[in-house]
Amino acid sequence: MVKIEKLQKEDIEAVSRIEAAAFSMPWSAKDFEQLLEDEKSLYLVAKIEDEVVGCCGVTIVCGEGNINNVVVDEAYRGQGIAFAMMQELLNQGRQQGSVEFTLEVRVSNAPAIHLYEKLGFVSEGIRPRFYERPVEDAMIMWIRQ
Ligand SMILES: CC(C)(COP(=O)(O)OP(=O)(O)OC[C@H]1O[C@@H](n2cnc3c(N)ncnc32)[C@H](O)[C@@H]1OP(=O)(O)O)[C@@H](O)C(=O)NCCC(=O)NCCS
Repeated sequence: MVKIEKLQKEDIEAVSRIEAAAFSMPWSAKDFEQLLEDEKSLYLVAKIEDEVVGCCGVTIVCGEGNINNVVVDEAYRGQGIAFAMMQELLNQGRQQGSVEFTLEVRVSNAPAIHLYEKLGFVSEGIRPRFYERPVEDAMIMWIRQ
């Protein structure tokens, strides 16, 4: 069974490993440690039998939640884990004062775009050449009030 919990210091090594396997410019363990100190940031992990299998996070400024680092370990994809984690992140984000949410996603990332649309995100435009390694446009998605 999947449990969704707040990120804790002891989860950071596993989260960094999952990030490094999925992203060309992953966040370091130090980046995640700083988040634990940041009152504006809320990070969740998904665990199966106490093993971290995914994470996602939001930083809330002036009622606007900026979503980052949505990732599930490759071996556990396609089981609804990202959807469950993100629903919980949106719920907890709203409780912490976020009224709108935004994120960027590579235009070629069909699984992620599908996930975000299922959660209610709508594309509001393209930011050309937003990403590096490789260079690619970003789709900017929002959930408005
Ligand atoms: C995007 C990602 C987090 C999805 O995680 P996941 O746990 O597999 O997603 P879920 O199982 O909750 O799937 C949610 C929806 O996306 C769909 N989906 C998942 N993988 C898919 C794929 N390869 N192609 C198309 N749709 C896909 C699912 O079908 C599901 O929709 P459905 O219920 O209508 O079928 C995962 O693929 C991942 O970690 N990718 C690498 C990191 C990444 O790109 N993160 C996003 C950065 S913006």
